[in-house]
Amino acid sequence: MVSETLSSEQAIELENNYGAHNYHPLPVVLSKGEGVFVWDVEGKRYYDFLSAYSAVNQGHCHPKIIKALTEQASTLTLTSRAFYNDVLGAYEKFATEFFGFDKILPMNTGAEAVETAIKLCRKYAYEKKGIPENEAEIIVCKNNFHGRTTTIISFSNDEDARKNFGPFTKGFIKIEYDNLKALEEALNSSNNIAGFLVEPIQGEAGVYVPSEGYLSKAKALCEKHNVLFIADEVQTGVARTGQLLAVDHENVKPDILILGKALSGGVYPVSAVFSNNEIMDVIKPGQHGSTFGGNPLACKVAIAALKVVKEENLAENSEKLGKLFRSELQKFATSNKLVKLVRGKGLLNAIVINDSEDSSTAWDICIKLRDNGLLAKPTHGNIIRFAPPLVMNEEQLLECVSIIKKTISEF
Ligand SMILES: Cc1ncc(COP(=O)(O)O)c(C=O)c1O
Repeated sequence: MVSETLSSEQAIELENNYGAHNYHPLPVVLSKGEGVFVWDVEGKRYYDFLSAYSAVNQGHCHPKIIKALTEQASTLTLTSRAFYNDVLGAYEKFATEFFGFDKILPMNTGAEAVETAIKLCRKYAYEKKGIPENEAEIIVCKNNFHGRTTTIISFSNDEDARKNFGPFTKGFIKIEYDNLKALEEALNSSNNIAGFLVEPIQGEAGVYVPSEGYLSKAKALCEKHNVLFIADEVQTGVARTGQLLAVDHENVKPDILILGKALSGGVYPVSAVFSNNEIMDVIKPGQHGSTFGGNPLACKVAIAALKVVKEENLAENSEKLGKLFRSELQKFATSNKLVKLVRGKGLLNAIVINDSEDSSTAWDICIKLRDNGLLAKPTHGNIIRFAPPLVMNEEQLLECVSIIKKTISEF
C-alpha cells in the first residue's frame, strides 16, 4: 500500500524492489515542487538545478499551467484522433504561429517526435526528391542523444544505450559534431541524403556548445544540397538557452523542428514536430499517429505553458542569468583546480570536473550539493549539468552559485 508517510528509505526500497532498474537516481525522494524549489518527503527544501532535464522551464506547478490542466481534465481528456475535438485546432494555430511554421504534428514524448521527424524526412525524400525507396540516409552526429527507441539508438554511439538491443535500423551516417567539413563530405558522399538531424547544443553528451556559426553554416550547406535541416530542440527549445529556440541565436529556421519537454512546462507529456506545408503534407491519414497525440488536455496545457514563456520573459531571463552564472563560475574555476571549465548558453550549463572520466567525483559532488540544498546530476563522465527552472531570480541564482562554490571548495 502506498502510504503518505513513506520515508525516503522506504520509497527508494519500493522502487528498487518493484521497478526496472533502468535509471540510477540521486538518492533523494521528492514529494512537492513549486517554482524553482522541490521538497523531499522529510520536508527538506532544495533548489532544482535539473528541471527534469529541462522540461520544467516554467517552474514546478506553475499556477496558470495547472489551472489549464485541471479545468480541461474535468471537461474532456481524450477523444483519440478518430474524432475532432474543440481544442486541437486552436492549439495547432497557436503553436504554429508561436514558432513560425505552417503545420504541427502533435505527439507525446521527445523520442516519439524524433521518430516522427525521421519518418517525415524519409517520406519527403521519396515523394518529393525522388530518392529511391528504402535508400534514404540521414546524417546524424556522434555523441548525439535523441531518445531511446530502437531506431534512435541505432544511430547512438553510447554503448549502454545500444548493447544487446540490436539489430539496428539502417539509413544513418554518423559524423563528428561541430565539424562542417565532415558535414560537407557526408553531403557529397551520396545522392540519397534526405536530412541532417542535429541538436543545436548537445545536452546529454555534456552541454557541448558548437562553434559560433556552425548551425547557420550547416543550414546553408543543407540548403545547397537540398537536404532537410532537422533541429532536435527537445532539450534546448522553449527559452532554455536564452532564445525561444537555440537555433534563433544564429537566425536559423529549421526545415523540421522537434520540441518536447518544456512544451508542457513538464506538466504532461507533450511533444511536436513542426514544418512547412510542402513537407508536412506528405503525411496522409493512416500513415502516422498516436492515441494520445494532440489530446485536449495536452493542447490546453501546452498553450498555457507557451503563454507563460512569453508573459514572464523566460528567454530574456535565461539569457541574463546564464551570463551571470557562467561569469561567476568561471571566476571560481580560475582559483579552483577541480573545475576544469564552465560552458553553456542561457540556463543550460555544465561544469567539467578535473578528474578521470570514470571517477566518482561528479557524483560525489552532486551528493554534497544535495546535502547543501541543491539538486543536480552528472551527465556523461565527469560533467555536471546545471539547468534550473527559468523562473529563477537573480538573488536565488547568486545563492545557488554560492552553494555550488562552497560545496566544490570542500572537495
Ligand atoms: C535532444 C533530445 N532529444 C530527444 C530526447 C528524448 O525525449 P524523451 O525522453 O521525452 O523521449 C531528449 C531527452 O533528454 C533530448 O535531450
